[in-house]
Amino acid sequence: MSIRKLALSAAAALSLGAGPAVAAGGVGEIIDFSFSFEGPFGSYDRAQLQRGLQVYTEVCAACHGLQYVAFRTLTQESGPALSPEAMRAYAATFEVFDPEMQEWRPADGPDHFPESAMETAPDLSLMAKARIGFEGPYGLGINQLIRGMGGPEYIASFLLGYDGREEMQAGAMFYYNRAYDGWVSMAPVLWEDGVEYADGTPATMEQQARDVAAFLMWTAEPHLGERKRSGLVGVIFLTLLASLLYLTNKRLWAPVKDAAKRKPKEA
Ligand code: HEC
Repeated sequence: MSIRKLALSAAAALSLGAGPAVAAGGVGEIIDFSFSFEGPFGSYDRAQLQRGLQVYTEVCAACHGLQYVAFRTLTQESGPALSPEAMRAYAATFEVFDPEMQEWRPADGPDHFPESAMETAPDLSLMAKARIGFEGPYGLGINQLIRGMGGPEYIASFLLGYDGREEMQAGAMFYYNRAYDGWVSMAPVLWEDGVEYADGTPATMEQQARDVAAFLMWTAEPHLGERKRSGLVGVIFLTLLASLLYLTNKRLWAPVKDAAKRKPKEA
């Protein structure tokens, strides 16, 4: 490719990147909450995931499903870590249709959470990965490198992002949401003390928003801790390897370099 062509396609690629974010929903005002699972050593906060599960169950599950999540995963040590008995008791509060028995029965460990009960409410299993909270500057994505993709920040900001404006559009109610940067059909669902946390944590709106966002990050990426650990091992290993290779290289070429230094320049 000629230099000119290369420059042109690079310019085209850059201008593509600088376009508006393609993720559904605009990126409006996103609050940069800090979560325990951020950074290279981050991991999930078990108590927070349990509170988030409670918020999901008591508030969101009326409309939103988690159809890609199996109940048994709630026992995961690096996740909510419910005891097997607590997990099975929780699962049994949901009903699933058994295709073999041709009847409804209480759910059990291997079953999945139900699909969304409301047709227009999206499934939340992977929502924390399907939204971005941060972008730019100028489409370069540097903010994502520093602050992360911001999926959970988006969810928490979305839940807190209502400014009270509502409007009837084509026979349906819409609510203005600052994080979405537009009108949505989901009404505000969080209230101060809207849930009563089993662990006694004061249930402010922000607390509920952060907890359910953390829980949804876990459903979207249950193996985040393991991924971070193996990444870290990889980085340490590569650093060691690189230093050894550097030293080996020095060593290998040392005689040649010495010889070159000793030999007087031939004219
Ligand atoms: C009464 C039903 C209802 C409840 C309860 C509800 N939602 Fe929603 N939710 C919806 C609907 C409907 C939409 C689609 C809104 C739209 O696209 O206009 C939606 C959309 C969303 C979105 C996607 C926004 C986007 O960027 O497209 C998220 C995230 C979300 N809900 C999270 C939650 C969480 C978390 C809870 C519980 C704390 C919850 N919802 C409770 C009905 C509900």
